[in-house]
Amino acid sequence: MIKKLVAQVVLENIYKSFLSVAKAEKAKFPAVAQPLIAAVEEMPQAVNSINVLRRIDLAVEDGEFMVLVGPSGCGKSTLLRLIAGLEEMTGGNIWIGDTLVNNLPPKARDIAMVFQNYALYPHMTVYDNIAFGLRRGARGGQEKNLSTWAENTLGGMTRLLPAPLHYKGDREQEVDKRVKNVASLLQIEALLNRLPKQLSGGQKQRVALGRAISRNPQVFLMDEPLSNLDAKLRAETRAQIVKLQRQLGTTTIYVTHDQTEAMTMGTRIAVMNLGQLQQVARPLELYNRPATQFVAEFIGSPPMNFLEVEFQSPLVISHPLFRFTLPEVWQLALSKYDRQPLILGIRPEHFELDKASSNNLPVQVDLVEALGNETYLSVSPTNSTNAASIQVRIPPHRSVSLQEQLWLSFTPDKLHFFDPDTGKAIWYD
Ligand SMILES: Nc1ncnc2c1ncn2[C@@H]1O[C@H](COP(=O)(O)OP(=O)(O)OP(=O)(O)O)[C@@H](O)[C@H]1O
Ligand SMILES: [Mg+2]
Repeated sequence: MIKKLVAQVVLENIYKSFLSVAKAEKAKFPAVAQPLIAAVEEMPQAVNSINVLRRIDLAVEDGEFMVLVGPSGCGKSTLLRLIAGLEEMTGGNIWIGDTLVNNLPPKARDIAMVFQNYALYPHMTVYDNIAFGLRRGARGGQEKNLSTWAENTLGGMTRLLPAPLHYKGDREQEVDKRVKNVASLLQIEALLNRLPKQLSGGQKQRVALGRAISRNPQVFLMDEPLSNLDAKLRAETRAQIVKLQRQLGTTTIYVTHDQTEAMTMGTRIAVMNLGQLQQVARPLELYNRPATQFVAEFIGSPPMNFLEVEFQSPLVISHPLFRFTLPEVWQLALSKYDRQPLILGIRPEHFELDKASSNNLPVQVDLVEALGNETYLSVSPTNSTNAASIQVRIPPHRSVSLQEQLWLSFTPDKLHFFDPDTGKAIWYD
């Protein structure tokens, strides 16, 4: 049954605004983006409307697992709903495969969507939940004719009888094959006769996935499908979804705000904020080369630390508490920032506990979190009353006590710089 159907999904210049019902709604979503991405052409904003998505360009390749991440309210679900056809676009184009689907109804888009709250039919068994879309004739409804009706009616009536007496026409036999195939893929064969209320959260989740998979769509859209599960089940189901997706090769767009899911599941990750795409890249590329301060902070846990410093040409970084010389690779990229402020970014694992020196940052330990395999410190720069606290990762064998004074040095080739006005990363080639 698993025939490999693959399709590219292309989003071109997508805009979406909602009419605001009340002024209070408007306040939830600022009309102007934060100055993170410069030179964004704003769409002329209609009176009384809230721009929720702006200028989204994204090409999801055949068979790719694209993860969409971003904070609550940034527009992830809205974007999925536009692709599924459940919401109308304000501007832009969507292609699935070679078809421009802007005006196609959801049923004709050959997409299966898994929602966060899995919405199973409570009065139907697991089997019937999975079979539902297949019986309905999920592919555009072209099978709605008299014989289908008769088969469905006979099938429906005899389903109340013991299994050997069920009526199974050709179509129902095909449905049966597909349901069983999907059930075995998801290891829920033993649950087929249960009702949703007799299942655990993780089992319900797998049934919801089964329902989507059984239709063998061109594209899967999944909106935070694991958010109702506990940590262990989440990790298990996460691995299962990835395995399945690789097996089926179905183009998938997966929404989450859990960055472990994003980093471990995605072929690529698209990071969104305030209705705009910030960066689209492979997981480790996002981690190693975040394009904006927002991405740098959002990807990585604990997040990257930021310090305001001043740059002095050719290569000196100065801060009230330290001063050091950068590797030469930075010279050209930073040349236009002479005597200008810069944001220095450094991840918790890229500090070293070092000796007292004017090159190093003196700090005081406020909190120690020993996790066994690693230890995190929350420290504050010495003598700075309201500086933000800094997260530092140290090896587990190094013991540190509260209030201890430490000196931190910066791993020279792991520094990030951001323009304080635009929030954009400054890169050397
Ligand atoms: N029907 C609607 N009418 C007006 N505003 C809406 C409507 N649907 C969504 N919004 C607004 O659009 C913005 C994006 O919502 P969306 O549900 O896409 O966010 P999200 O990224 O999925 O967030 P979450 O992670 O919390 O699910 C929000 O500010 C929301 O209030
Ligand atoms: Mg959402």
